[in-house]
Amino acid sequence: MSQNYLIVTGGSRGIGLETAKLFSQNNYKAFNLSRKPCPADSVTSIAVNLAQPDFAEDIKTQLIPQIKDADKVILVHNAAQLKKDTVENIEADSLRQVMEIGVVAPTILNRLLLPYMPPKSSIIYVGSTLSEKAVAGAFSYVVSKHTTIGLMRATCQDLMDSQIYTACVCPGFTDTPMLRDHLNNDEEIIEQIKGMNAQNRLIHPAEIAETIYFAATNPVMNGAILHANMGQKER
Ligand SMILES: NC(=O)c1ccc[n+]([C@@H]2O[C@H](COP(=O)([O-])OP(=O)(O)OC[C@H]3O[C@@H](n4cnc5c(N)ncnc54)[C@H](OP(=O)(O)O)[C@@H]3O)[C@@H](O)[C@H]2O)c1
Repeated sequence: MSQNYLIVTGGSRGIGLETAKLFSQNNYKAFNLSRKPCPADSVTSIAVNLAQPDFAEDIKTQLIPQIKDADKVILVHNAAQLKKDTVENIEADSLRQVMEIGVVAPTILNRLLLPYMPPKSSIIYVGSTLSEKAVAGAFSYVVSKHTTIGLMRATCQDLMDSQIYTACVCPGFTDTPMLRDHLNNDEEIIEQIKGMNAQNRLIHPAEIAETIYFAATNPVMNGAILHANMGQKER
Protein backbone atom coordinates (compact mmCIF):
# COMPACT_ATOMS: atom_id res chain seq x y z
CA MET A 1 0.00 0.00 0.00
CA SER A 2 1.35 3.45 -0.86
CA GLN A 3 2.42 5.65 2.04
CA ASN A 4 1.29 9.25 1.74
CA TYR A 5 2.23 11.92 4.27
CA LEU A 6 0.86 15.35 5.11
CA ILE A 7 3.14 17.78 6.92
CA VAL A 8 1.29 20.94 7.97
CA THR A 9 2.59 23.86 10.01
CA GLY A 10 0.16 25.44 12.46
CA GLY A 11 -2.09 22.40 12.79
CA SER A 12 -2.95 23.03 16.45
CA ARG A 13 -6.06 25.04 15.53
CA GLY A 14 -7.96 26.83 12.78
CA ILE A 15 -7.29 26.08 9.12
CA GLY A 16 -4.24 23.91 9.88
CA LEU A 17 -6.26 21.68 12.22
CA GLU A 18 -9.01 21.17 9.62
CA THR A 19 -6.36 20.44 6.99
CA ALA A 20 -4.69 17.79 9.16
CA LYS A 21 -8.07 16.18 9.86
CA LEU A 22 -9.11 16.15 6.19
CA PHE A 23 -5.88 14.56 4.95
CA SER A 24 -6.05 11.99 7.79
CA GLN A 25 -9.56 11.05 6.65
CA ASN A 26 -8.11 10.52 3.17
CA ASN A 27 -5.47 8.00 4.31
CA TYR A 28 -2.56 10.39 4.72
CA LYS A 29 -0.38 10.01 7.81
CA ALA A 30 -0.51 13.58 9.13
CA PHE A 31 2.23 15.45 11.01
CA ASN A 32 1.65 18.81 12.64
CA LEU A 33 4.44 21.31 13.37
CA SER A 34 3.44 23.99 15.90
CA ARG A 35 4.10 25.02 19.49
CA LYS A 36 0.93 23.42 20.88
CA PRO A 37 -0.20 19.92 19.83
CA CYS A 38 -2.94 19.16 17.34
CA PRO A 39 -6.05 18.01 19.25
CA ALA A 40 -6.96 15.35 16.63
CA ASP A 41 -5.89 11.84 17.73
CA SER A 42 -5.00 10.79 14.19
CA VAL A 43 -2.35 13.53 13.87
CA THR A 44 1.23 13.29 15.18
CA SER A 45 2.51 16.58 16.56
CA ILE A 46 6.12 17.68 16.74
CA ALA A 47 6.50 20.72 19.01
CA VAL A 48 8.43 23.47 17.24
CA ASN A 49 8.59 27.23 17.38
CA LEU A 50 9.02 28.26 13.75
CA ALA A 51 10.30 31.68 14.82
CA GLN A 52 13.41 29.99 16.30
CA PRO A 53 15.87 28.92 13.58
CA ASP A 54 17.04 25.92 15.65
CA PHE A 55 13.68 24.19 15.01
CA ALA A 56 15.44 22.57 12.04
CA GLU A 57 17.27 20.21 14.42
CA ASP A 58 13.95 18.78 15.62
CA ILE A 59 12.83 18.26 12.01
CA LYS A 60 16.02 16.32 11.26
CA THR A 61 15.77 14.08 14.33
CA GLN A 62 12.01 13.71 14.87
CA LEU A 63 10.33 14.09 11.45
CA ILE A 64 12.66 12.99 8.66
CA PRO A 65 13.25 9.44 10.02
CA GLN A 66 9.45 8.94 9.95
CA ILE A 67 8.91 9.89 6.28
CA LYS A 68 11.77 8.08 4.59
CA ASP A 69 9.44 5.49 3.03
CA ALA A 70 7.15 8.12 1.48
CA ASP A 71 5.43 7.59 -1.85
CA LYS A 72 4.08 11.13 -1.66
CA VAL A 73 4.55 14.08 0.70
CA ILE A 74 2.21 17.08 0.86
CA LEU A 75 3.86 19.99 2.68
CA VAL A 76 1.48 22.79 3.71
CA HIS A 77 3.00 26.06 4.92
CA ASN A 78 0.09 27.35 6.99
CA ALA A 79 1.42 28.84 10.26
CA ALA A 80 1.33 32.63 10.54
CA GLN A 81 0.88 35.43 13.03
CA LEU A 82 -1.36 38.44 12.49
CA LYS A 83 -0.25 41.51 14.43
CA LYS A 84 -1.64 45.01 14.60
CA ASP A 85 1.15 47.25 13.29
CA THR A 86 1.76 50.03 10.77
CA VAL A 87 4.59 51.43 8.67
CA GLU A 88 4.95 54.12 11.35
CA ASN A 89 5.27 51.91 14.45
CA ILE A 90 6.59 48.53 13.24
CA GLU A 91 9.51 47.27 15.36
CA ALA A 92 12.30 45.49 13.48
CA ASP A 93 12.28 42.48 15.81
CA SER A 94 8.52 42.10 15.45
CA LEU A 95 8.81 42.17 11.66
CA ARG A 96 11.68 39.65 11.86
CA GLN A 97 9.50 37.28 13.89
CA VAL A 98 6.63 37.43 11.41
CA MET A 99 9.02 36.89 8.50
CA GLU A 100 10.78 34.02 10.31
CA ILE A 101 7.45 32.18 10.55
CA GLY A 102 6.03 33.16 7.15
CA VAL A 103 9.12 33.20 4.91
CA VAL A 104 12.27 31.76 6.52
CA ALA A 105 10.67 28.70 8.14
CA PRO A 106 8.97 27.55 4.90
CA THR A 107 12.30 27.98 3.11
CA ILE A 108 14.13 25.90 5.75
CA LEU A 109 11.44 23.21 5.65
CA ASN A 110 11.48 23.04 1.85
CA ARG A 111 15.24 22.59 1.81
CA LEU A 112 15.19 19.90 4.52
CA LEU A 113 12.22 17.94 3.15
CA LEU A 114 12.60 18.17 -0.64
CA PRO A 115 15.14 15.30 -0.73
CA TYR A 116 12.40 13.06 0.78
CA MET A 117 9.59 14.23 -1.52
CA PRO A 118 9.04 11.84 -4.45
CA PRO A 119 7.47 12.94 -7.76
CA LYS A 120 3.73 13.81 -7.38
CA SER A 121 4.42 15.43 -4.01
CA SER A 122 3.38 19.06 -3.52
CA ILE A 123 4.11 22.20 -1.54
CA ILE A 124 1.09 24.34 -0.72
CA TYR A 125 1.50 27.85 0.65
CA VAL A 126 -1.32 29.50 2.58
CA GLY A 127 -1.50 33.16 1.63
CA SER A 128 -4.37 35.57 2.17
CA THR A 129 -6.57 38.03 0.36
CA LEU A 130 -3.82 40.33 1.71
CA SER A 131 -1.27 38.56 -0.51
CA GLU A 132 -2.44 40.75 -3.37
CA LYS A 133 -3.88 43.83 -1.69
CA ALA A 134 -3.31 45.77 1.53
CA VAL A 135 -5.37 47.16 4.39
CA ALA A 136 -4.19 49.63 7.02
CA GLY A 137 -2.92 48.41 10.39
CA ALA A 138 -1.54 44.98 9.39
CA PHE A 139 1.89 45.99 8.05
CA SER A 140 3.98 42.89 8.88
CA TYR A 141 1.16 40.55 7.85
CA VAL A 142 0.63 42.24 4.47
CA VAL A 143 4.39 42.24 3.78
CA SER A 144 4.75 38.59 4.77
CA LYS A 145 1.68 37.47 2.80
CA HIS A 146 2.83 39.27 -0.37
CA THR A 147 6.12 37.39 0.04
CA THR A 148 4.19 34.11 0.21
CA ILE A 149 3.25 34.53 -3.44
CA GLY A 150 6.90 35.16 -4.30
CA LEU A 151 7.85 32.00 -2.44
CA MET A 152 5.30 29.98 -4.39
CA ARG A 153 6.28 31.41 -7.78
CA ALA A 154 10.01 30.87 -7.16
CA THR A 155 9.29 27.33 -5.91
CA CYS A 156 7.29 26.61 -9.06
CA GLN A 157 10.08 27.74 -11.37
CA ASP A 158 12.87 25.99 -9.47
CA LEU A 159 10.98 22.68 -9.27
CA MET A 160 9.67 22.75 -12.86
CA ASP A 161 11.43 19.51 -13.83
CA SER A 162 10.88 17.65 -10.54
CA GLN A 163 7.19 16.71 -10.84
CA ILE A 164 6.69 18.35 -7.46
CA TYR A 165 3.83 20.81 -7.64
CA THR A 166 3.04 24.01 -5.79
CA ALA A 167 0.21 26.51 -5.38
CA CYS A 168 -0.85 29.30 -3.07
CA VAL A 169 -4.29 29.18 -1.42
CA CYS A 170 -5.46 32.62 -0.29
CA PRO A 171 -8.34 32.48 2.22
CA GLY A 172 -10.75 35.31 2.90
CA PHE A 173 -12.35 35.96 6.29
CA THR A 174 -12.34 32.52 7.95
CA ASP A 175 -13.82 31.70 11.34
CA THR A 176 -10.66 30.85 13.30
CA PRO A 177 -8.97 32.04 16.50
CA MET A 178 -6.69 34.28 14.40
CA LEU A 179 -9.59 36.25 12.96
CA ARG A 180 -11.59 36.38 16.20
CA ASP A 181 -8.55 37.49 18.24
CA HIS A 182 -7.76 40.18 15.68
CA LEU A 183 -11.32 41.49 15.92
CA ASN A 184 -11.28 41.22 19.76
CA ASN A 185 -14.24 38.84 19.36
CA ASP A 186 -16.41 41.92 18.79
CA GLU A 187 -19.71 40.49 17.44
CA GLU A 188 -20.69 43.84 15.89
CA ILE A 189 -17.50 43.96 13.81
CA ILE A 190 -17.83 40.25 12.97
CA GLU A 191 -21.34 40.95 11.61
CA GLN A 192 -19.91 43.77 9.44
CA ILE A 193 -17.20 41.43 8.13
CA LYS A 194 -19.83 38.82 7.26
CA GLY A 195 -21.54 41.40 5.09
CA MET A 196 -18.40 41.84 2.98
CA ASN A 197 -18.91 38.72 0.85
CA ALA A 198 -21.52 37.18 -1.39
CA GLN A 199 -22.94 34.82 1.28
CA ASN A 200 -23.07 37.06 4.36
CA ARG A 201 -21.08 34.65 6.51
CA LEU A 202 -17.56 33.76 7.55
CA ILE A 203 -15.82 30.94 5.72
CA HIS A 204 -15.55 27.68 7.69
CA PRO A 205 -11.92 26.53 8.08
CA ALA A 206 -12.94 23.13 6.66
CA GLU A 207 -13.80 24.89 3.37
CA ILE A 208 -10.24 26.20 3.15
CA ALA A 209 -8.91 22.72 4.02
CA GLU A 210 -10.88 21.34 1.06
CA THR A 211 -9.36 23.99 -1.21
CA ILE A 212 -5.87 23.08 0.05
CA TYR A 213 -6.62 19.40 -0.59
CA PHE A 214 -7.78 20.19 -4.13
CA ALA A 215 -4.68 22.28 -4.87
CA ALA A 216 -2.38 19.64 -3.39
CA THR A 217 -3.82 16.74 -5.35
CA ASN A 218 -4.42 18.32 -8.78
CA PRO A 219 -1.12 18.95 -10.61
CA VAL A 220 -2.96 21.16 -13.12
CA MET A 221 -2.98 23.80 -10.35
CA ASN A 222 0.85 24.02 -10.37
CA GLY A 223 1.81 27.69 -10.02
CA ALA A 224 -1.75 28.86 -9.29
CA ILE A 225 -2.96 31.45 -6.81
CA LEU A 226 -6.38 30.31 -5.58
CA HIS A 227 -8.42 33.03 -3.90
CA ALA A 228 -10.94 31.31 -1.60
CA ASN A 229 -12.94 34.25 -0.25
CA MET A 230 -16.54 33.91 -1.55
CA GLY A 231 -16.02 37.20 -3.38
CA GLN A 232 -15.26 40.34 -1.46
CA LYS A 233 -17.10 43.64 -1.74
CA GLU A 234 -14.62 46.40 -2.56
CA ARG A 235 -15.17 49.68 -0.75
N1 LIG B 1 -8.58 33.24 9.47
C1 LIG B 1 -8.58 34.04 8.44
O1 LIG B 1 -9.52 34.84 8.26
C2 LIG B 1 -7.45 33.99 7.43
C3 LIG B 1 -7.57 34.79 6.29
C4 LIG B 1 -6.56 34.77 5.35
C5 LIG B 1 -5.45 33.95 5.53
N2 LIG B 1 -5.37 33.18 6.66
C6 LIG B 1 -4.17 32.35 6.79
O2 LIG B 1 -4.50 31.01 7.08
C7 LIG B 1 -3.45 30.41 7.85
C8 LIG B 1 -4.03 29.80 9.10
O3 LIG B 1 -4.66 30.83 9.83
P1 LIG B 1 -5.74 30.57 10.99
O4 LIG B 1 -6.75 31.60 10.81
O5 LIG B 1 -6.08 29.15 11.06
O6 LIG B 1 -4.83 31.02 12.23
P2 LIG B 1 -4.77 30.55 13.76
O7 LIG B 1 -6.09 30.06 14.19
O8 LIG B 1 -4.15 31.69 14.51
O9 LIG B 1 -3.72 29.36 13.69
C9 LIG B 1 -2.38 29.69 13.41
C10 LIG B 1 -1.50 28.48 13.59
O10 LIG B 1 -0.14 28.92 13.42
C11 LIG B 1 0.65 28.36 14.47
N3 LIG B 1 1.77 29.22 14.81
C12 LIG B 1 1.76 30.54 15.08
N4 LIG B 1 2.98 30.94 15.46
C13 LIG B 1 3.78 29.85 15.41
C14 LIG B 1 5.16 29.62 15.70
N5 LIG B 1 5.96 30.60 16.13
N6 LIG B 1 5.65 28.37 15.54
C15 LIG B 1 4.85 27.36 15.14
N7 LIG B 1 3.54 27.52 14.84
C16 LIG B 1 3.02 28.76 14.99
C17 LIG B 1 -0.31 28.24 15.64
O11 LIG B 1 0.10 27.18 16.48
P3 LIG B 1 0.72 27.35 17.95
O12 LIG B 1 0.13 28.58 18.56
O13 LIG B 1 0.33 26.07 18.62
O14 LIG B 1 2.20 27.47 17.72
C18 LIG B 1 -1.63 27.88 14.98
O15 LIG B 1 -1.76 26.47 14.86
C19 LIG B 1 -2.44 31.52 8.13
O16 LIG B 1 -1.40 31.47 7.18
C20 LIG B 1 -3.27 32.78 7.93
O17 LIG B 1 -2.47 33.89 7.59
C21 LIG B 1 -6.34 33.17 7.61
